[in-house]
Amino acid sequence: MGKLDGRVVIVTGAARGQGEQEARLFVAEGARVLLGDVLDGQGEALAAELGEDVARYVHLDVTREDDWEAAAVAAKDAFGKIDGLVNNAGILRFNELVSTPLAEFQQVVQVNQVGCFLGIRTVAPEIEAAGGGTIVNTASYTALTGMAFVGAYAATKHAVLGLTRVAAVELAARKIRVNAVCPGAVDTPMTNPAALDPAADPAESKRAVDELYRKVVPLGRIGQPAEVARLALFLSCEDSSYITGQPFVVDGGWLAGVSVI
Ligand SMILES: NC(=O)c1ccc[n+]([C@@H]2O[C@H](COP(=O)([O-])OP(=O)(O)OC[C@H]3O[C@@H](n4cnc5c(N)ncnc54)[C@H](O)[C@@H]3O)[C@@H](O)[C@H]2O)c1
Repeated sequence: MGKLDGRVVIVTGAARGQGEQEARLFVAEGARVLLGDVLDGQGEALAAELGEDVARYVHLDVTREDDWEAAAVAAKDAFGKIDGLVNNAGILRFNELVSTPLAEFQQVVQVNQVGCFLGIRTVAPEIEAAGGGTIVNTASYTALTGMAFVGAYAATKHAVLGLTRVAAVELAARKIRVNAVCPGAVDTPMTNPAALDPAADPAESKRAVDELYRKVVPLGRIGQPAEVARLALFLSCEDSSYITGQPFVVDGGWLAGVSVI
């Protein structure tokens, strides 16, 4: 028996990285999943691999209200209802605050913060209509502390925690639990864009990543996207039945303090 048997979950940013692992794990645990992303080729291929009976892909730019409406219709057409949402799509831009162009700041807000708001606003009524369920928002280590050169990103991830808490309070009576995952450094194209660069040496970029996180993370390594997916599963299933409105850190101990060895 799977932990998500009978459930229907929308996962955004599901074409790669953490969203891909969440989609894979949720299907393995019995859910049917609507994958949304703007990387259509990768998203379509993943849905096809998982199987049409349990996974469908739609183009879902989380900043667009019409895409959200279409995704909700697609999920109901394919699977009959929606009772779960993982707001996972996100972007990261590195810049010093005093050098950040307004357009760049606003782009990060649109995807990470407005995208999460639109997801909750569109899907919560569907989850209520299905009799209740769960929403998992993807915040970050930087939702709980500062970090140089990620001002726009950290601001949006702090905002995601605010949205999570308000949504949890407002939606509890509708039988919807809302929580947030706060990953530290996770091995995806977001943290290691060199891995996508055909000109880069993959062994060298892996060595640099390993060396950095060996020093700064108490558990001595970068996290794997499947480790975040397991937390999203916990927050999406009955194992977390008395938990709502909370941030959950999955960071190898990074936030706990500075390692001196
Ligand atoms: N990787 C990390 O270290 C880390 C740490 C903390 C939080 N996070 C968060 O985890 C989430 C997943 O990131 P990841 O690490 O898997 O990175 P990733 O870049 O591999 O995946 C992000 C996905 O979001 C999609 N996306 C981007 N803009 C979109 C839009 N407008 N509409 C729909 N989809 C869009 C991308 O196409 C991609 O598939 C993000 O919210 C990110 O901020 C990541």
